[in-house]
Amino acid sequence: MAKEKKKKSFKKNLKIKKTKSAFFGVRKEADKPVVLAESEIVKTSKKTPQLVRGFKDVLPAEQKYFKFITDALEILAVDYGFEKIDLPLLEESNLFSRAVGKETDIVTKEMFTFETPGGERVSLRPEATASVARAYINHGMLNLPQPVKLYYNGLMFRYERPQSGRYRQFNQFGFEILGDKHPVLDAQMIILCHNFFKEIGLPVNVQVNSIGCNSCRKEYKVQLVNYYKTQKSNLCDDCKERLNKNPLRLLDCKEEKCAIIKEEAPQIVDWLCDDCKNHFVKVLEFLDEVELPYNLNSNLVRGLDYYTNTVFEIWPEGDEKRSQTALCGGGRYDNLIELLGGRNTPALGVSIGIERTILKIKELNLPVPERAKRDIFVAQLGEAPRRKSLALYESLRKEGIKICESFSKDGLKSQLEIAGKLGVRFTLILGQKELSEGTILLRDMEAGSQETINFNKVVKEIKRRLEQ
Ligand code: HAM
Repeated sequence: MAKEKKKKSFKKNLKIKKTKSAFFGVRKEADKPVVLAESEIVKTSKKTPQLVRGFKDVLPAEQKYFKFITDALEILAVDYGFEKIDLPLLEESNLFSRAVGKETDIVTKEMFTFETPGGERVSLRPEATASVARAYINHGMLNLPQPVKLYYNGLMFRYERPQSGRYRQFNQFGFEILGDKHPVLDAQMIILCHNFFKEIGLPVNVQVNSIGCNSCRKEYKVQLVNYYKTQKSNLCDDCKERLNKNPLRLLDCKEEKCAIIKEEAPQIVDWLCDDCKNHFVKVLEFLDEVELPYNLNSNLVRGLDYYTNTVFEIWPEGDEKRSQTALCGGGRYDNLIELLGGRNTPALGVSIGIERTILKIKELNLPVPERAKRDIFVAQLGEAPRRKSLALYESLRKEGIKICESFSKDGLKSQLEIAGKLGVRFTLILGQKELSEGTILLRDMEAGSQETINFNKVVKEIKRRLEQ
C-alpha cells in the first residue's frame, strides 16, 4: 500500500508535458526513471540536429593529425619531466574573471556561461591555466617538491567569431611549471615549444617580450595612456575603450590605423625595473646559449591579465604580421596563485593550439604518419568457416599479429578488394573445403600466389612469414 502511494507521488512529481507533438519527460538511468530538468525536455522534431555553430566533430580521417601532434608533445612532456593533469571542462565562472581578467575579451565576450539547476554560475573553460592554478591550491601541491611540472591536453571553448584558425571549440596542449621563478625555466619552456615545431617539420618564429611586474607596468601604463590620449581621435572604437579599461591591449590592435599609432608608442622594455630587466636579460641569454632564434617584440602583450615578466608566442614562418595565427602562447604568471587565494608562488606556462598547428601542417603538406598498417586479412566463405574464422581471429590477435577482417561480407571478391585496400601482406582464406580438410589458404597479396597450409599450424606459419 505504502509502496503504491510512493509510486503515485513519484509519478506526480515527474515533469511530463503533453502537447500536440511528443515530449519526453523521463529517461531511464540504471533502470530507474530520472526526472528531467525543464530545459532537458525537448520537442521531437523531424529535422536532423545540426552541429552548434563553431563546434565540430573530429572524423576518423582527421584523427591522424591529432595523434601525430599529441604523440610528439607527450614525448616532449616526458623528456622535460612533466606529469599529466586532467581538469574539468566546467569551472566556476569567477575563476576565469579573477584569473584571466574581468576586462579581457575572453571574459567579457567569449565565455559560454550558464547557471546550473543548483544556481551555480559556471563556464566552459576558455583556457586551462586558471584551472591548473586552482588545482595547485586545492590539492596542496605547494607541499610537493617544487617546481611542479604539469601538462594537459583537451578542449577549450571561446565564443569567438568562427573563421579559419579560430573556433568556438578547440584543443590545447599545455605545459605549466609552478613554484619556481628561475629565468632558465622561461627559456626552457620556449625551447620545448620550439623543439616541438622543429620536430614535426613546421618552420616557425619565436616572439618574446617582457611586460614586467605590477609596479613597473603601472608606470609604463601611465606613459602609454598619456601617449594614446594624444592620438585618441584617430583610434578605432575598440581601442578607445581599451584606453580606459585595458591599455596594454592597445598594443595588440590589428587595425591598420592603430598599427601606425602603435609604432611611436613607448616601449615597455624601457620601463622595466631592475629585477624585471635582469630576469628578461637572463632569459634571452639562455636562449642565445642554445642558439634559438627569436624576435624581440615590444608589442606582444597577450590577451590574458595574469601575465608578468616574460611573455612569448610562436608564429608560423611567413605570418610575422598576423599574430592571430599564433600557434602557441604563454609566459610567466607569478601573481596568479596568490590572486586565487594561494601562497605567493611564481609560475609559468604555455598552450599550443592543436587545430592551428594542424591547419599549418596541411597547408605545408607535411608528412603525417598513417594509422599502423595491418599484416593479415582473414576471409571466409560460408557460415561454418565464418564461425571458425572468428575464433582464428582471436588466436592471431592474442599472438600480437596485426589482423583485420570483414566478417559480415560473403563473397571472396569483395573481401579480397578490402584486403587490397588495407594493404595487408597476406590474406587467409577459409572455405567449406578447407574447413573439412583441416587446412587454410594463404594468399601472398603482392605476388598474387596462393598455397594451402595446415590449419593447426597457421599461427606459427604466419609468424614465420612476417618475420622474413
Ligand atoms: P592563448 O594565447 O589564449 O593562451 O591560447 C593559446 C593558443 O591556443 C593560441 O596560440 C592558439 O594557437 C590557440 N587558440 C586560442 N584561441 C583559439 C581559438 N578560438 N581557436 C583555435 N585555437 C585557438 C592561453 O590560453 C594560455 N592559457 C596559455 C598559457 C599557458 N599561459 C600560461 N600557461
